[in-house]
Amino acid sequence: MLKGKKILLGITGSIAAYKSILLLRLLVKAGAEVKVVISPAAREFVPQLTLSTLSNQPVLCEISGDQGWSNHVMLGRWADCMVIAPLSCNTLAKMASGQCDNLLLAVYLSATCPVLVAPAMDEDMWKHPSTKANLQKIQTFGNQVIPVTHGDLASGLVGEGRMAEPEDILSYISNLFSHTPLLKGKKALVSAGPTHEPLDPVRFIGNHSSGKMGIALAAALQKQGADVTLVLGPVGEIVLPEGIKTIRVKTAAEMFKACSRSFPKSDITVMAAAVADYTPVKTAKDKIKKSDPLMVLELTRTTDILASLGKVKRKNQVLVGFALETTDGEAAAKEKLKKKNADIIVLNSLQDKDAGFGTDTNKVTIFTKQGDKIPFDNKSKTAVAQDIIDTVIRLYYA
Ligand code: CTP
Repeated sequence: MLKGKKILLGITGSIAAYKSILLLRLLVKAGAEVKVVISPAAREFVPQLTLSTLSNQPVLCEISGDQGWSNHVMLGRWADCMVIAPLSCNTLAKMASGQCDNLLLAVYLSATCPVLVAPAMDEDMWKHPSTKANLQKIQTFGNQVIPVTHGDLASGLVGEGRMAEPEDILSYISNLFSHTPLLKGKKALVSAGPTHEPLDPVRFIGNHSSGKMGIALAAALQKQGADVTLVLGPVGEIVLPEGIKTIRVKTAAEMFKACSRSFPKSDITVMAAAVADYTPVKTAKDKIKKSDPLMVLELTRTTDILASLGKVKRKNQVLVGFALETTDGEAAAKEKLKKKNADIIVLNSLQDKDAGFGTDTNKVTIFTKQGDKIPFDNKSKTAVAQDIIDTVIRLYYA
């Protein structure tokens, strides 16, 4: 897929730079032509002889020096893609503010090609509001941020901030050039929106789900070529993507029926709906009149659709669920993975500002059956959907 592609590999000063050697090796092995540009700080972390030998090109570091003037504009125009891995906090801040005090930054500012970055830093730096703001800023420039992972850090602590593994960075780069949709021929099923459990002809028990996350997921699956069925609860006025088969339902029981019917043929199933856990034991035929000061509603459990599908899931089917938690999200997400036999649980925490119900943005962490924990930044629901589907593709279809 990368045969003949021209890649600029930017390396900055971070202990994770040792992994760039493997990334360079993988890129060259995949048939790419790679030029390496390093920041002055990166010289301390990675031997230039290794980089020049593997890339079969001189390593570029200075705007001018013994080898003359490096034409950063031509380098920026030469590349089909620039990937900066690792991206240090310092270079990130400079990119966000348009600073240009070394060759790597000059090439970045001149690049007309897509730019991907793989940040690497300690957890406290990663979580600092200035880092978050800088990442958001470079995303508005169109740069793609490859999520960091959770694990051992250079400080000896364990947490978020590890650079993505070279194999994963390679698959992000390959995705850029893949014109064939990766889910062509696959069937997908998505549940979205709330359910309404009727009490009488005019009242129901419902929730605030807008259906936006599930609809964005259906669109992301369709973009990758999947044949998508969307089972959608009662949402307000909403524009549905064309070409997606949509089954409108109201109650949890109707949603269960529709999902169970489509599931056997589905390769990828994403249960994003906020299904009511309880429904009234009886629905009154006529409007309930007010009477006593205290009213007790008798409710009964609905079927857990995700768990039911998990029970009949075949080996080649991928099942994704959501967990919306207000406390101890990680433990609950891991528990749901097991209990519902899901392959992936996407955790969104209502503790995060601008995440969850009704908003246009979301902040999620993906937990996989394989034991991965992949945190993402606060993003638009479209971008979050893209991240979730990219993760499904990377784990099951790459
Ligand atoms: N879900 C479902 N059917 C239900 C309830 C939930 O398919 N009757 C799915 C949701 O679509 C979501 C996942 O299960 O993908 C998690 O929902 P959540 O309400 O967080 O899970 P519960 O198991 O209901 O959580 P809790 O035990 O915390 O009530």
